[in-house]
Amino acid sequence: MKGWAEGLELIELVRAAHRAGWLERLRDDMSAAELASVTGVSAEQVSNVLAVLVSAGVVQDGEKSFRLSPAFDALVAGASGVDVSTVLGGVELARAQVAQAVRPTGQQRRPDGEQALRLARDWGVRATPGARQLYGMLYETLGDYRDRLEQGGPLLDVGSGVGGALLTTLTLFDGLRAVGVETVPEVAAELGRRARDAGVADRVDVRTADARVLRDESIFTVSYWAQVFFPAEARADTLAAIFRALRPDGLLLVQELFPPESGPEEPSTRTRLDRLFYRQQHIAWGMSAEDLAAEGHAAGFRDTRIVASPLGRLVVMRKPAG
Ligand SMILES: C[S@@+](CC[C@H](N)C(=O)[O-])C[C@H]1O[C@@H](n2cnc3c(N)ncnc32)[C@H](O)[C@@H]1O
Repeated sequence: MKGWAEGLELIELVRAAHRAGWLERLRDDMSAAELASVTGVSAEQVSNVLAVLVSAGVVQDGEKSFRLSPAFDALVAGASGVDVSTVLGGVELARAQVAQAVRPTGQQRRPDGEQALRLARDWGVRATPGARQLYGMLYETLGDYRDRLEQGGPLLDVGSGVGGALLTTLTLFDGLRAVGVETVPEVAAELGRRARDAGVADRVDVRTADARVLRDESIFTVSYWAQVFFPAEARADTLAAIFRALRPDGLLLVQELFPPESGPEEPSTRTRLDRLFYRQQHIAWGMSAEDLAAEGHAAGFRDTRIVASPLGRLVVMRKPAG
């Protein structure tokens, strides 16, 4: 247990250093003496904190000064749209969930709106140049799907969260129009704000709704479903709603996110904790691309193909034309 405490202490130290403004200061070169003088903390204490942060890879030790490592600098700057507070929020959420793991079935609280927002923020990149490059590479692997985005869609994005995929895609394709469906009001509100920040609010209709109640028929040429976050009991009805909403010949894209482990090695503790976190929320964790293809087939989709991409394996399937 003392070994595990190391991670907990590091999280607390990073949180405290962030709150006290040290991380922001360490975006520029700074000596321990300078940091001591601006913070009012003794030079020895500052050196001891920096020694921990250096050995954890948070800070780099130069000849005479210290500064954040490139990865932490990007995190503090929020370069991807996911910043230190967001990551710490995700850690808190996982902690709160794990603490409930031994409660009798039925007495476990599902994440509330605020917690759902923390999770969505932790996943939702902003439409930064890096995110645009990643999604650009992804769409390069998906010729016909990409062509339809280029031709204006419309795109149905299901389980939009705060819009990592949706808003980045809208900024990549100028003429694209889209509907984003998000069931948690707090998350949908943040999606709306981010759409305005990204300058695409006039091309996206954000609907605060459970995807299962979508009544659109034959409207969309493409759909992206963030399937991994949907509770098992909602999957079949969600797929049926997407099938209805797509035009004949429309394409559905899903991503294999936590593939089942294969091979002789035992799953890692990290993997087991992830499974606990998601299964506790009734999420069908660990579906392979082949499982996703079979699920789509059962809903009526055909011409399924599995594509390797920079974001892992993707499954593209078609609503039959006739
Ligand atoms: C975390 S987001 C996924 C990431 C997001 N697509 C992105 O790129 O940023 C998944 C979202 O699906 C939403 N969701 C889950 N079940 C849903 C349902 N039945 N209808 C609509 N949204 C749902 C969750 O509230 C969650 O915010």
